[in-house]
Amino acid sequence: MKRLVIFASGNGSNAERVITYFRENKLAEVVLILTNNPKAGVIDRAKRLSVPCEIFDRKAFYESDQVLTRVQDAQPDLIILAGFLWKCPSSLIAHFPDQIINIHPSLLPKYGGKGMYGLHVHEAVIANQEKESGITIHYINEHYDQGAVIRQEKTIVSPTDTPDSLAQKVHALEYQYFPIVIEQLLQKV
Ligand code: GAR
Repeated sequence: MKRLVIFASGNGSNAERVITYFRENKLAEVVLILTNNPKAGVIDRAKRLSVPCEIFDRKAFYESDQVLTRVQDAQPDLIILAGFLWKCPSSLIAHFPDQIINIHPSLLPKYGGKGMYGLHVHEAVIANQEKESGITIHYINEHYDQGAVIRQEKTIVSPTDTPDSLAQKVHALEYQYFPIVIEQLLQKV
């Protein structure tokens, strides 16, 4: 069975989707969730789903090897960033080359970079009257939202869409494609 570690900072609906998807198909198991946010919804989801979940702070992430060591101990085949808002330190990236992927709620390179996350992305897309938006699943590197793209999927932005309704459309794409892409990558490792 392949092993997944998830980093998440917020609600955790993608994390939950990945956990339940692989509980059904048994190719992989989420062995650990790590969060930087003591108030993240993902903590309750992890508890409900009986997945170990640990909280870390800036010091542990950027000024020590604590988080890196914890991840190494978990022996992941793939590391998943699911709504994780901190930039990964280069030591983590160097230890897991091509093994860390992120999901972003826009068609990168549009609407990426620092500060572009969650509803901020959808507000900007609507303010710019874009005709389409979507998701990007990509490898990470040391710059926000700039690693090699693995897959993009689109949705139409209609004139009546609000940031919330667009978020719903984008989440639907995320729930549909993120587990499938993870599954495809796991078949290669
Ligand atoms: C998701 O839409 C994800 O694409 C986005 O945060 C949301 C997390 O939702 N990620 C980013 O914006 C990263 N820059 P969730 O916590 O319910 O999975």
